[in-house]
Amino acid sequence: MHVLIIGGTGNISRAIVKSLLKRGHRVTVYNRGQRIDQPPPEVEVITGDRRDREQFESTLAARQFDVAIDMISFTAADAQSTLNALPNVGHIIQCSTVMTYGPPFSGLYQDTDAPLNGRHDGGYGAGKVAADELLLGQMAKGGVPVTIAKPSFTFGPSHPLFRQVDWGSDWLDRLKKRKPIIEAAEGLNYFQFLASADAGEAFAALCGLPAAHGKVVHVVNPAAMTWHEWHAMAANALGVPLETVSVPWDILVAADASRFSALTTCLGHNQVFSARSLHELVPDWAPKVPLQQAVNETIEWLQRHDNIENSDNNPLEDRIIAAMRQIKGTF
Ligand SMILES: NC(=O)c1ccc[n+]([C@@H]2O[C@H](COP(=O)([O-])OP(=O)(O)OC[C@H]3O[C@@H](n4cnc5c(N)ncnc54)[C@H](OP(=O)(O)O)[C@@H]3O)[C@@H](O)[C@H]2O)c1
Repeated sequence: MHVLIIGGTGNISRAIVKSLLKRGHRVTVYNRGQRIDQPPPEVEVITGDRRDREQFESTLAARQFDVAIDMISFTAADAQSTLNALPNVGHIIQCSTVMTYGPPFSGLYQDTDAPLNGRHDGGYGAGKVAADELLLGQMAKGGVPVTIAKPSFTFGPSHPLFRQVDWGSDWLDRLKKRKPIIEAAEGLNYFQFLASADAGEAFAALCGLPAAHGKVVHVVNPAAMTWHEWHAMAANALGVPLETVSVPWDILVAADASRFSALTTCLGHNQVFSARSLHELVPDWAPKVPLQQAVNETIEWLQRHDNIENSDNNPLEDRIIAAMRQIKGTF
């Protein structure tokens, strides 16, 4: 098969490229060429910016692909542009997200029929819901076959390693310097962490699979774990002890609403989704990369590229920790 990836040099998409090549497929990627890690030489690269709709659509309309994987479609307008660009493609896989389900999330091990509460978030989730619905809607009218793939948190070399309370990377610097890190309510909420290599295998297996046409598929690690366990893996990768200070998340939001706002949306809640939809279509898929190994490799990449923020520039965490210790000392 000849597979086009819109993207192709990012966190998940690089892993997809690798899995497709391993399976003997021909691969073309379309991106702006801004990433440090470029694709292997056997991959055809088309350089362009998909936001320049005219250029994007005319460049790709002149080509023929069996499958297109769209890694950077965030709105209905993006999805429509992909359809305009590829009217004759055999199969489109739209990279969506589990953030289409919330917040609020309606329960544990939600399946593909869970309410799409993310449509009300006014941003990321809403845009993905609109893009997914547009694609499925045109297929229902006899258009291009589509599959909506919804990954949970997926990481690997080139991607920042988030923690439970914010999107920054300075927590890794804190660990390296043997400073304690904050956890919200002991970091005990459950999340699904997936190595990008395992996501790559799932996407590659879905390519051109007729049974996947018209389906929504969760690309998630069936084994959930807590953020505390995740933080411990990072400490282990750095060879340092993990020291944590538990803080109620409403106090964190009061301390800096913008920095810790992700707690109130996704990071502070249990987010666990069923992998049934993927297992049904690709029964032999299972995460193969041990998470500790993936964390080690990601931290090694971040350190090599000097991509970890200096925690000394951000004294707020120390102030919060000092305040918590003072409160405890009061009793
Ligand atoms: N990581 C997660 O935890 C997670 C979870 C759920 C869903 N997702 C979804 O995964 C997708 C991201 O995939 P990824 O990890 O491969 O992405 P990524 O690491 O953000 O990389 C994005 C890719 O798209 C290219 N690109 C970005 N903007 C572009 C533009 N305007 N025109 C052309 N190419 C562009 C980038 O290359 P250049 O910068 O060189 O153009 C790169 O190849 C998103 O749709 C996201 O919603 C991610």
